Amino acid sequence: MLYTPDLNTILKHRYQLVQSLPSGNFTHNYLVKDQKNNHHYVLKLLSLREAKEWKNIELLKREAGILKHLNHPAIPAYVDFFHEKTSDNSYYCLVQSQVEGKTLAEWVKQGRHFSEPETLNIALALTDILEYLHQLSPPIIHRDIKPANVLLDEQGKVSLIDFGAVRDKILHDEDKTLGIGDGSTIIGTYGYMPYEQFKGKAIPASDVYSLGATLAYLLSHTDPADMKSVDMQLCFEPYINVSPALVQVLKKMLQVNWKKRYLAVNPLKQHLLRIQQGKKSSRLQLPNLPHWLGHAILSISVILALYFFFEHEEELPPWIPMVKFYSMQRIFYSMILNIMRQLNPSP
Ligand SMILES: Nc1ncnc2c1ncn2[C@@H]1O[C@H](COP(=O)(O)OP(=O)(O)O)[C@@H](O)[C@H]1O
Ligand SMILES: [Mg+2]
Repeated sequence: MLYTPDLNTILKHRYQLVQSLPSGNFTHNYLVKDQKNNHHYVLKLLSLREAKEWKNIELLKREAGILKHLNHPAIPAYVDFFHEKTSDNSYYCLVQSQVEGKTLAEWVKQGRHFSEPETLNIALALTDILEYLHQLSPPIIHRDIKPANVLLDEQGKVSLIDFGAVRDKILHDEDKTLGIGDGSTIIGTYGYMPYEQFKGKAIPASDVYSLGATLAYLLSHTDPADMKSVDMQLCFEPYINVSPALVQVLKKMLQVNWKKRYLAVNPLKQHLLRIQQGKKSSRLQLPNLPHWLGHAILSISVILALYFFFEHEEELPPWIPMVKFYSMQRIFYSMILNIMRQLNPSP
């Protein structure tokens, strides 16, 4: 039995429920129309008769409090928070601005495949948002970054939603009294949640892990929870087909041990930017050759070059020996460099 208001109900004498939206574990989401200004908003509703635990109300209140203090173009704006009593129930409601677009989960379910440049754009937009959240004082850790909590519109604009799992340091002591974060309640989503969060610890590097898992899902269409893992380390490589540089970045984001991850978002952003710029600046896009073929082509070119230099030495003008010496040096250096790059493709 659902204890939720019917569509078209008007709450607080102004918010008319227009449409149901996908809903989480303990709340119901609606698109609402504000009778005062005709604007559309998103309303997250908690029905007291359904709320199994008191702390669910606290979580919604906390989400409202957090949203109120945030100010970023890629995060929905806080509009209202209220409590409405009816004859047989009581609702707690958070109202926020409506963001255009579909969630990444919806895009993937519709069969959309994201190219590496598109994925890089999404990753960079999310690192911008995370940089903003993590530099706040105290830092805000989102704790539930996943495809269902990221919206993407037709123009490629990315937004982050759902601040219900957020932790900040101020609330840390309160968490303990609520039984949140002391190990008794795990907040986050299986597959996207790093190991330390299972143990109640959330740090900026935890959001880095969840972002990595989200990108792995975008590129593979496979839920990280369904991917193979060894000693809790996610083996995402066989499921995706991207440049070695991006694989290296994802590997670092998805380390089980948070100390081996990017500890802050900025170095991650710099690496992503370098991959993006590298892709834009390379005018000639060569196909991704297997390593052995790259080595073979390189070796044959060097042998041919040497052959021509030595076979036709007498026919060459006198200034050639100097050029020859210089060219040999260049060939040698670029050969070593190429081999090193192929062996260690880190960005
Ligand atoms: N600000 C928003 N703008 C547009 N759609 C939203 C917004 N907030 C939530 N939604 C929609 O509602 C769904 C659930 O919202 P979310 O905040 O993730 O709630 P839950 O806590 O129930 O997971 C989202 O997947 C999205 O489809
Ligand atoms: Mg959600």
